[in-house]
Amino acid sequence: MSAQTAAKKATAASVRSRKGGEPLVCLTAYDAPTAKLLDPHCDVLLVGDSLGMVVHGMPSTVGVSLEMMILHGQAVMRGADRALVVVDLPFGSYEASREEAFANASRVVQETGCGAVKIESGTYAAETVRFLTERGIPVMAHVGLRPQAALVDGGFKAKGRTEEERARVLEEAEASAEAGAFAMVIEGTDEELAAEITRKVACPTIGIGASAACDGQILVTPDMLGLFDWTPKFVRRYGDMKSVIEEAAEKYAEEVRGRRFPGEAETYRLRKG
Ligand code: KIV
Repeated sequence: MSAQTAAKKATAASVRSRKGGEPLVCLTAYDAPTAKLLDPHCDVLLVGDSLGMVVHGMPSTVGVSLEMMILHGQAVMRGADRALVVVDLPFGSYEASREEAFANASRVVQETGCGAVKIESGTYAAETVRFLTERGIPVMAHVGLRPQAALVDGGFKAKGRTEEERARVLEEAEASAEAGAFAMVIEGTDEELAAEITRKVACPTIGIGASAACDGQILVTPDMLGLFDWTPKFVRRYGDMKSVIEEAAEKYAEEVRGRRFPGEAETYRLRKG
């Protein structure tokens, strides 16, 4: 480890201890070079199952497999020196039983070397959070809008429009925290609900489209880099990757078509004999 990378590695425990303190900076990452660029700026790098949509072009996260999560988790681990790497457990890998959840979560931890897993934690999943945590796997919870529930919800819908729904999200959050979640993503709620959850749970909350009332924030990195024409309404673009890629590709294509690339500088000259 170089002097530059000797900064202390974040852990689930160090992230947990940030409750109510300096806001947690979190972003998603899916590959090694991007993880390396993001790592100095982030407390947490999440290998989110959003990779199904933003990397693999799927219509939702439901089709993402455990193998895909492990492969991308391994890549991100190669680029991350100091941020805590958290890997999502995909749809179908943790819901049926706590034992199956442990078998799959332990595979993720052993095969990637990541520091924690995340599950979309409806109230039913609290016992899974406890089961994994007690057996040595730190769990980040995820409440509010749960993208893996898109099929039953009829799409990606913000949560908390009715009193009943607000009570359910709060219940999910409290159950996950009491079961031992070291941190919790709150997605797609209004500020009032995010603030109430943040006040009531002992672990840090990390908001996405859930206001500044949370203990930290996360965004899907290609969204915040400006890679797509469409992003959810709450996403601020901090870059214009789409234009950077389009302009570079156009310039390259023009040079190739005009026989200006490769020039002398880009051509190998091999010494023969
Ligand atoms: O999969 C993902 O990227 C996530 C974030 C939206 C929090 O779960």
